[in-house]
Amino acid sequence: MEYIFKIFRYDPKKDGHPYFQEFPYQTDESKSILEALMDVRNEQDCTLAFRYSCREAICGSCAMVINGQFDLACRIMIESLKSSLIIIEPLPNLEIQKDLVVDMDPFWEALHKVQPYLFCEDKVPTKGYRIEEKEMEKIFQYINCIMCGCCYSACPVASRDERYLGPAALAKLFRLVKDPRDTRPFSNWSRVNTEGGVWGCDTIFKCNEVCPKDVRPADGIEALRRKLVIEKIKRIFKFRK
Ligand code: FES
Repeated sequence: MEYIFKIFRYDPKKDGHPYFQEFPYQTDESKSILEALMDVRNEQDCTLAFRYSCREAICGSCAMVINGQFDLACRIMIESLKSSLIIIEPLPNLEIQKDLVVDMDPFWEALHKVQPYLFCEDKVPTKGYRIEEKEMEKIFQYINCIMCGCCYSACPVASRDERYLGPAALAKLFRLVKDPRDTRPFSNWSRVNTEGGVWGCDTIFKCNEVCPKDVRPADGIEALRRKLVIEKIKRIFKFRK
């Protein structure tokens, strides 16, 4: 089969503006988009830049926009696109470092702000800790997040408001707050009770739509909002008593 790969190119150090470059590509084998990009780089233009690591939809490094869809290049097979023209673009709303490589710093900084790890000082397990199945079900989908950045990049709020933590960080916080082992105090996680936190979300569910791992970050944000309101009410009544 013959394909045309139309790939976004931009090197801020030498290009005046971004452009698309076309590469003819031929293969009779079943290959992923990532494998095709590697062939193009190895055989046609060694300056083509893109990220990858695991090649099996685990690390999240190869997230990009493929024929208009946010996805992982390593899990999309070329033939599944049913098109001989394949347009590859970097994740939008993030600064381009080179070609398909974007600066993920805003994404990692937002994640860092929610302290994405377990607080479990007084529940340190000495012989392991068993989470009940019912509790596990509540957080399971959020554990599947591989931090590829698709949701952050597709989020219209993150693109216009740099204060907004974004879907991945907020969904991660929800996953931790709902974890029965986590003992973070209300004062810690209620810091997202702001416009830059849970109330910034426009609830248009773009993050749910683009997630390649079927995580639904917007559902986590909604749940976090409800939890914040309930906790606030509980605290008011507790205070009155
Ligand atoms: Fe790791 Fe694609 S290379 S997710």
